[in-house]
Amino acid sequence: MQQNDQMTKEPELVLAPIRGITDCHFRTIFHRHFPGFDSALAPFINPQRHSSFHPKQIKDVLPERNQSLAVVPQLLHTDPEDFLFLACRLQELGYKEVNWNLGCPAPMVTRKNRGSGLLPFPEQIYSFLDHVIPRLPMQLSIKTRLGYEKKDELLSILPRLDAYPLSEIIIHGRLGSQLYRGDVDRESVRRCLENSKHSIVYNGDITAKDIFFNLQHQFPGINKWMIGRGALANPFLAGEIKGMKVMEQGERLKPFHDELYLCYHEILDGPAHLLGRMKQLWVYLSEFFPPQQKSWKKIKKCKTEEKYQQVVEEIFSGRR
Ligand SMILES: Cc1cc2nc3c(=O)[nH]c(=O)nc-3n(C[C@H](O)[C@H](O)[C@H](O)COP(=O)(O)O)c2cc1C
Repeated sequence: MQQNDQMTKEPELVLAPIRGITDCHFRTIFHRHFPGFDSALAPFINPQRHSSFHPKQIKDVLPERNQSLAVVPQLLHTDPEDFLFLACRLQELGYKEVNWNLGCPAPMVTRKNRGSGLLPFPEQIYSFLDHVIPRLPMQLSIKTRLGYEKKDELLSILPRLDAYPLSEIIIHGRLGSQLYRGDVDRESVRRCLENSKHSIVYNGDITAKDIFFNLQHQFPGINKWMIGRGALANPFLAGEIKGMKVMEQGERLKPFHDELYLCYHEILDGPAHLLGRMKQLWVYLSEFFPPQQKSWKKIKKCKTEEKYQQVVEEIFSGRR
């Protein structure tokens, strides 16, 4: 495709999985209040041993809970049989694609050579794909990083991945060992693009419209973008990128917050869980209410629902 065609085509935006925040309730309510995303990737389903899973584990991706925003389930498994067992169940639910997590940086995951912890072991990756792909009754995509410790790990396996019929590869331009520290390495992402025939989705630190347009200019061959924390800090971001009319931001945020709060109030067990869940969101959302540290500190200290609601009122009315 010509560079200019890509630039004039509307970008496809995917809401990134943020475990502990972007569950099915969040995705549904967020999408209703803040249009702009075309789809979402669900947070990973934790692997269980012996090809089993608890029905609780797939609750988040049940079709009836994902009616508004299209979602792709994500698996963290490295055992091909366990992966296939769960993927087949997801296919029965109607899913046509699953995503394999090769990017998670959490030490308790990477220690087991899962997530980005598998990137230094390319033979295990090929062997997994050799086993899984011929038996998988649906499409497979991969979400990954540049490497675990070395930034040429992904680069060196990309040519081999060309041989597998993957629907796309989502690249977060950091190393697993960096966790979320340091800048995204755009130069290494560029090299990955040059060394892969697959469709590449760009992910990492898209936190403002200008940054997005700059990236779009730098990577004219990419038309699909994944945004996580940037959209939690500014829920209007996807709509802004798409040129949607954004009106009265403060007015839109409070109903979103209140609906999410009510929803978790109903389904979570007690105030500690409720406040814990809302606080995870405020880690990012407080950026919308400068000075960020001040609003976050106030929220963090809340121990009761009453105090939380009072502080939230203050924060929102300060913006009005
Ligand atoms: C708290 C947290 C939880 C995350 N959970 C997942 C997950 O379940 N699966 C996944 O592939 N990535 C996960 N990620 C990574 C994000 O999807 C994304 O790749 C990363 O935050 C970089 O994109 P961003 O800068 O747009 O947020 C998580 C990130 C954070 C901060």
